[in-house]
Amino acid sequence: MIHEIILTTLSAEGQVHIAPFGIRWRGDQVLIAPFRPSQTLDNLLATRHAVINYTDDVRVFAGSLTGHADWPLRHAEQVQGRILASALSHQELELVEVKEDTTRPELYFRVVHEATHAPFRGFNRAQAAVIELAVLISRLHMLPLEKILSEYAYLKIAIDKTAGERELQAWQWLTDKLQNYQAEISGDNQA
Ligand SMILES: Cc1cc2nc3c(=O)[nH]c(=O)nc-3n(C[C@H](O)[C@H](O)[C@H](O)COP(=O)(O)O)c2cc1C
Repeated sequence: MIHEIILTTLSAEGQVHIAPFGIRWRGDQVLIAPFRPSQTLDNLLATRHAVINYTDDVRVFAGSLTGHADWPLRHAEQVQGRILASALSHQELELVEVKEDTTRPELYFRVVHEATHAPFRGFNRAQAAVIELAVLISRLHMLPLEKILSEYAYLKIAIDKTAGERELQAWQWLTDKLQNYQAEISGDNQA
């Protein structure tokens, strides 16, 4: 089972980095597997700490792929790190093991602190649709355009029926990115 979360890390110089990741649990350890190259991977290896943010603000997922990353943060409690203000809950992590791999190393963490900040209010189909589109957009150059466009059309039904303001904003950012990509590749084909 994979859970989609927002990972916040710090570089060796203390610069904050915010990125969506799929995490898996291995007993009481968390497994995070970043594809190389990755700023997150560099930060994790340099500082050995991170924060998992469980948030239903899907703008953070869409924003990290579209240049909107200026989200309110506060200091983590027991590690050098930052917590998203929108996190419903968070976990502070320490790196315990690295399984090296040239494409996708596996990093195992232990939870050193966790806290809950706000209640879970139920599933929202538009939030799930934004996450699905974000995954597709993060793989734009690897997937056939027809597949992306047909999934986009299906996911948009949930947006039209169930989105709130945050979901509409996130969807728009991803839509703009998809349209820019389409313009770029049609320009390439004409050249
Ligand atoms: C929902 C979601 C889940 C993702 N999960 C992963 C993941 O498990 N591993 C990974 O390498 N990238 C994943 N990505 C893509 C990264 O977030 C994205 O490439 C990110 O920029 C990582 O590179 P960076 O560390 O240089 O920022 C995911 C993207 C989304 C939208």
